[in-house]
Amino acid sequence: MCDTMCPVCLFVIGLIIVIYLLVWVYVKSTRRHCTSDVDLTGKTVIVTGGNNGLGYVAAREIASRNARVILACRNAEKAKAAVEKIISETGKKNVVFMKLDVSSLKSVREFAKQFLKEESRLDILINNAGIITNDAKLTEDGLQVTYATNHFGPFLLTNLLLGRLKASAPSRVVTLSSLGHHLGKIHFENFKKPMLFEGSLTYASTKLASILFTYELAKRVKGEGVTAYSVHPGLCSSNLFDSYHPIIQWILLNINPFTKTIEEGAQTTIYCAIEKGIEEHSGKYFDNLRPGWANSKGYDAGVAKKLWEVSENLTKLA
Ligand SMILES: NC(=O)c1ccc[n+]([C@@H]2O[C@H](COP(=O)([O-])OP(=O)(O)OC[C@H]3O[C@@H](n4cnc5c(N)ncnc54)[C@H](OP(=O)(O)O)[C@@H]3O)[C@@H](O)[C@H]2O)c1
Repeated sequence: MCDTMCPVCLFVIGLIIVIYLLVWVYVKSTRRHCTSDVDLTGKTVIVTGGNNGLGYVAAREIASRNARVILACRNAEKAKAAVEKIISETGKKNVVFMKLDVSSLKSVREFAKQFLKEESRLDILINNAGIITNDAKLTEDGLQVTYATNHFGPFLLTNLLLGRLKASAPSRVVTLSSLGHHLGKIHFENFKKPMLFEGSLTYASTKLASILFTYELAKRVKGEGVTAYSVHPGLCSSNLFDSYHPIIQWILLNINPFTKTIEEGAQTTIYCAIEKGIEEHSGKYFDNLRPGWANSKGYDAGVAKKLWEVSENLTKLA
């Protein structure tokens, strides 16, 4: 141990700072932004969990391109405030709130029923709402809560709206996944247990389910004008990590040079929702505005098919 700062210590500290800054500059300069100037006049878009974080930015950017945007959110107060904010930031008034608690199958069914009654078309569905939690609990449907929110709710919602998506073709389904899916594993026998593992590992498995769901969906709707994409937004400074210890959260979101702002993080979602000419990549996992490094577990046809069938049964879709 050095009593005072010796030249070697100073050199090592300086080197660490220089490496950190170089990584930071490299990471920032390689981040891609969606520059599409597509006009979405006449298109209708649903963004689940669009009241804050990545969903808010995606909803605002899509509204600014003249689409009708429906914020599908569980908290009416927060959602109405977000609608007002989008209108004041974009000057576009075609933004509305519809109540949806995506973790509740009853709420998903009610939302779909109201949507199909009131809206004539659906061009883009963004399954954005998601949680990480250490709460070991089941939903009112008896499903593990992280799975219910991140997979079963979006699965049921997409299927209930699929007819309208087909009728509005060409249309798209964008589902938020995560790089964390590499740590995930689908345990079919555990969907009705309060907690599979620790919260983040359960989350990772639900995000693997998002890739498998997208992969299978793309196959099932091939040739019908509907395409599907899963998205890793990057590690972003949002409310998603509120259940983490504050120190871990601070390190993860403030010191880590790889952390993105929500503006940066929403770019891949926006890209997959609106960029022209990406249809050949339907079913794929996107990262930084291009097909990304998905684990082979995400493209396992047998698991994807089984997950679809089990999800049909558990959501009582079949
Ligand atoms: N941030 C990241 O680093 C990161 C990385 C990879 C993937 N993602 C994914 O990106 C998506 C958006 O996350 P975010 O970072 O923007 O997190 P966020 O700031 O926590 O936003 C999540 C949104 O989902 C909503 N939500 C949660 N449970 C819901 C439910 N049962 N019904 C309806 N809405 C619900 C939240 O509503 P309330 O405001 O009412 O809570 C909120 O609007 C998630 O799917 C997440 O897994 C994020």
